[in-house]
Formats: sequence, structure tokens, C-alpha cells
Amino acid sequence: MSAPQTSNPAKLLAHWDPEPGIAAFHEDWEALEGDSYVTEGYRSRRYAVMRFANGTLAPLPLEPHFQQKAHNPLFGGRYRQFAPISDAFLESPSLHALVQKMVTTTKVQDATWRLQLHQFRIMAPGDPTPEGFHRDGADFTLIMMIKSQNVTGGETLIGTDDTPNPTYTATLNRPGEALFLDDRHYKHKTSPIDAQDPQHPAFRDTFVMTMQRQDA
Ligand SMILES: [Fe+2]
Repeated sequence: MSAPQTSNPAKLLAHWDPEPGIAAFHEDWEALEGDSYVTEGYRSRRYAVMRFANGTLAPLPLEPHFQQKAHNPLFGGRYRQFAPISDAFLESPSLHALVQKMVTTTKVQDATWRLQLHQFRIMAPGDPTPEGFHRDGADFTLIMMIKSQNVTGGETLIGTDDTPNPTYTATLNRPGEALFLDDRHYKHKTSPIDAQDPQHPAFRDTFVMTMQRQDA
């Protein structure tokens, strides 16, 4: 598997080493609420929307989450309501630093960004991406591991529209380890997870954040 490309912002795909600041919030993932749209009951989550402009990160009013059907064939085309992410998380310097790093990495200057933040827990057995190989419908997407406990599987595949062969694969397992990709150019999916030891709790906690440019 070739190394991720980081030189061309239009085809940005980066694999980042652990960011301990965000992963330190792993206790927030103990308080997620069930995702009623996944009827099998293995997914819980929280959601928030923020704005980043002129170096300032600020929350926006919570709104239903909407994706185009073309981007998400399973859940697109309808408005979904999710519980909010805690103010402590949204106001943390760690989150601000992470957003600043993402903005810098895009090499897009002086833009206004709309950010959608998702805290996810997938209980094993479960499917991190029941919608399959998909695009989030944003400009850029971050997929960060928070905590993986007693889990097998969970390999993330990233590829383009043009080929069924993945451009890059990675199994995120270190807290704070992340993939950052151009969502306009790449699609992604993560393989189902199972418990290593079915006698004990098994789950995969992730933080997903999408960036949509507002002033282009
Ligand atoms: Fe996604």
C-alpha cells in the first residue's frame, strides 16, 4: 500500500500520529446516546455544528443532520436528530488546536468553514459504516480513533470513484490516531467489528469531523 499523499491539497490524504488532547476526552464517549436510526442498536453518538473563521471556533445552534441521498444511500435524504456534544468538549483548547491543524493542512487561506462533529461508539458486533463505501458530502473529513476495546476488524478503506481498489487502508487503534482526507476526491468505509473475547464488552469509539467551506 502506497503512502498517503499530502502534497496536493486537491487530493489530500493524511494519516496522523496520535493527538492526545482529543483522546483525553474519552470519558465523554461513555455518555453517548443511542442512534435510533440504526435499528440493530449497536451505534450511539452525539453531534454538534460549529463555525471556524478568522482563527475563531464557535458553536452553531444544534440542527438536524442532513446528507444527500447521493452521498449516503442508507440515511441520506432525511433529517436525523442526535443528542448534542458537551460544551466542555466544544470549548476545549484541544478541539480548537485540532481544527486549526486541519485548516492549515488544507492550505486554503482565509476561508469560513462549517464543521460537523460526530462522537460515535460502535458496539461489537457492529458495522461502523452501514451505508457502505461513501462520501460524507463535505470538503474534508477527519476520522479519529478515541478508544478501541476488545475489538477485531475496523479496517478503514479510502478510494476514489474510479476504482474499486482502495487507495489507502489503515486500522486506527491508537488513541488520537487519525485519517484526514479530501471528501470531494475520496470515498471511505470501515469494515465491521467483532469482539475478540465475546465474554467482555467490546466497542470502537471514534471522533469524526467534516469541514465544508462556506465562502467559496
Ligand atoms: Fe463517513
